[in-house]
Amino acid sequence: KKPLRLGIAGLGTVGIGTVQMIQRHSAMIAARAGRPVVITAVSARDRGKNRDADLSGFAWENDPVDLAKREDVDVFVEVMGGHDGPAKAATEAALAAGKDVVTANKALLAHHGHALALAAEAAGRVIRFEAAVAGGIPVIKALTEGLAGNQIRRVMGVMNGTCNYILTRMQSAGLPYDVVFEEARQLGYLEADPNLDVGGIDAGHKLSLLAAIAFGTQVSFDAVELEGIGAISIDDIRHAADMGFRIKLLGVAQMTGRGLEQRMTPCLVPADHPLGQLQGGTNMVVVEGDAVGQIVLRGAGAGAGPTASAVMGDVIDIARGFRLPVFGQPAASLATPVAAQSAAP
Ligand code: NAP
Ligand code: HSE
Repeated sequence: KKPLRLGIAGLGTVGIGTVQMIQRHSAMIAARAGRPVVITAVSARDRGKNRDADLSGFAWENDPVDLAKREDVDVFVEVMGGHDGPAKAATEAALAAGKDVVTANKALLAHHGHALALAAEAAGRVIRFEAAVAGGIPVIKALTEGLAGNQIRRVMGVMNGTCNYILTRMQSAGLPYDVVFEEARQLGYLEADPNLDVGGIDAGHKLSLLAAIAFGTQVSFDAVELEGIGAISIDDIRHAADMGFRIKLLGVAQMTGRGLEQRMTPCLVPADHPLGQLQGGTNMVVVEGDAVGQIVLRGAGAGAGPTASAVMGDVIDIARGFRLPVFGQPAASLATPVAAQSAAP
């Protein structure tokens, strides 16, 4: 059968994790996808950089836009990051050139998701983004497929591995912020701009994508009430522990009588609650549906393996011929959200 040909833009934590996964499991992936999945070309900034994978069989493009337009690329895999600049330009170029897109880039979709969904549909292409939310947890698939018959009441959870790692290590090991921040960097959790992590913005991006799917609205990241973990001291963490609580960067999205409420803020969570017990880079997403009740999804939210796992799930779906609309329903049918003016405490 004809192979599905990938062009991978970005050879950092996620890009190299994806290359390694394809090289490690090529026969298994071909069997599950019903056809071989091959990488034909790659792009990054520095061609001379030493990378942890054999890239010798792939064509090289300096410009990701050129990669996106190559004739020998069927699926453009965008794992560079950034919500404007090359990620946006190359994704638009890929759609215009008739390629499907797989991305791990929540910032891109939180800022431009609706326009890109419209462009994808106009071009008859798909954009898949499982890796963009909660790393290895298949929460996009859960919402768009398994839970599609439910009216969703609420989506909430811990969605940034860096923040959860920092907060839990400060609490359990009594280590200062700077030390655990560096550990998170070593584990490959951090965004290129770590302020996106500790400022709560990255988690806010993810919450806005889940809210769009859960409530059938256009993505409205600007309406997320945001507060990061930068002001939390080790004393705050100790005081919370003394009272039987953990501090977590918790996201909540729910449709209320006042409109769509989206909050990503540090919260006190009972220490014996599953959210309070969440350690390290682990994420947890809780979905409440009218028919199914409560679903709890838990797993690695960041790092090379878990994120590559999500990228490959999307790639295999495309190889199998799955053509799901970007946010689970046609972009033109997504409602304009009315933001709740003041969120409940
Ligand atoms: P990273 O390690 O910083 O890697 C970024 C890669 O993109 C690098 O290879 C870099 O090239 C390349 N790049 C940047 N600008 C470029 C440009 N203008 N042209 C060509 N290549 C360019 O980042 P990452 O952690 O893999 O994250 C990538 C994406 O996945 C981001 O959107 C991030 O939010 C998302 N994500 C990451 C994780 C995670 O755990 N790390 C999890 C989920 C989602 P050089 O190597 O030459 O500098
Ligand atoms: N920087 C992100 C995190 C990567 O720490 O969760 C996964 O999206």
